[in-house]
Amino acid sequence: MSRERRPPLALALAVAAAVVGVLAAASPRAEAELQVGFYNATCPIAEGVVFAEMHAILHEDPTLAPSLLRMHYHDCFVQGCDGSIMLRSRRGTAERDATPNRSMRGYDAIERIKARLETLCPLTVSCADIIAMAARDAVYLSKGPWYGVETGRRDGNVTVAEYAENDLAPPDSNIVDVKTFFSVKSLTAKDIVVLFGSHSIGTSHCEAFRKRLYNFTGAMDQDPSLDAGYARQLRKLCPRRHGGRGRRTKVPMDPGSGFTFDLSYYRHVLATGGLFQSDGSLLHDAATRGYVERMANASSPDEYYQDFAAAMVKMGRTDVLLDSLGEVRATCGVFVD
Ligand code: HEM
Repeated sequence: MSRERRPPLALALAVAAAVVGVLAAASPRAEAELQVGFYNATCPIAEGVVFAEMHAILHEDPTLAPSLLRMHYHDCFVQGCDGSIMLRSRRGTAERDATPNRSMRGYDAIERIKARLETLCPLTVSCADIIAMAARDAVYLSKGPWYGVETGRRDGNVTVAEYAENDLAPPDSNIVDVKTFFSVKSLTAKDIVVLFGSHSIGTSHCEAFRKRLYNFTGAMDQDPSLDAGYARQLRKLCPRRHGGRGRRTKVPMDPGSGFTFDLSYYRHVLATGGLFQSDGSLLHDAATRGYVERMANASSPDEYYQDFAAAMVKMGRTDVLLDSLGEVRATCGVFVD
């Protein structure tokens, strides 16, 4: 799949709509299923507006691209792609408050896009769909593929921190654990190895992999599957004890190419064992290893882009709320308690 020319068209539509003040007519939907172009009748400028906002948001802060891609995954894996990752709790019991989401960024960006859409098409475009569209645009704007994103999700209004603790695999997962976490969401080994390519962009805090460097088995040892040179670099960036500001230190997950959505993640994993044990675990299964090796040596990203698009669309179908289920609310991050 090559990088198509659709986004500039979408952007042009958004701008044209904004200039002439075209507002979408609110007509009822006929079908209760996810589909590309779900908002064509009710808010035809939705995708263009999301793209235009994403363009502006990433211009201001390019580090939000990986965060917004990650947000779609964290939303979908916890009670389905229902926007519940945006909900807040005064008691600290929302998904947002769970350990895997403490490093999540981009909530304000989603709210900004939502606010813009609310002025143009009130109560029409769900937060879950905005997250899905933002993830696709984040990939494209990081020089990755463009793909048709399905929409039509509605938003949930329940958020439970424990669900996020339980449903998101920790970074020290082995391949058996990873397969278990993904198979309960109907995702295959191929989907895993393809979706993990998302770690081609973005950064991680030292916390997520420090154990690999200093105390892998509890005997003050290093993970033997991690390349020694790479481990040395990581130890410099992430000391054994990290107080104060050092806690905020972040390292690229795909060094040298951390802002470009490309195949170098697979070369990195093959050469070094990857940043997280879960990345390295791809080498411990014949099928996922074979894919890593093939993509690491591929001369073009076309096959990967196609696989990635298919896997993202599939992940985006996870336990969605359709039709009369769920809601479309004016603000994504409302307090539930
Ligand atoms: C077993 C599965 C996975 C594990 C254990 C995992 C773990 C992690 C961890 C620990 C971080 C670093 C967070 C931080 O410290 O700031 C991270 C970042 C990231 N993850 Fe994953 N991840 C997994 C799967 C995925 C999937 C399926 C996607 C996308 C479809 C994804 C996309 C990302 C992105 C783009 C970032 C960078 C975020 C940023 O720079 O703000 N991850 N992941």
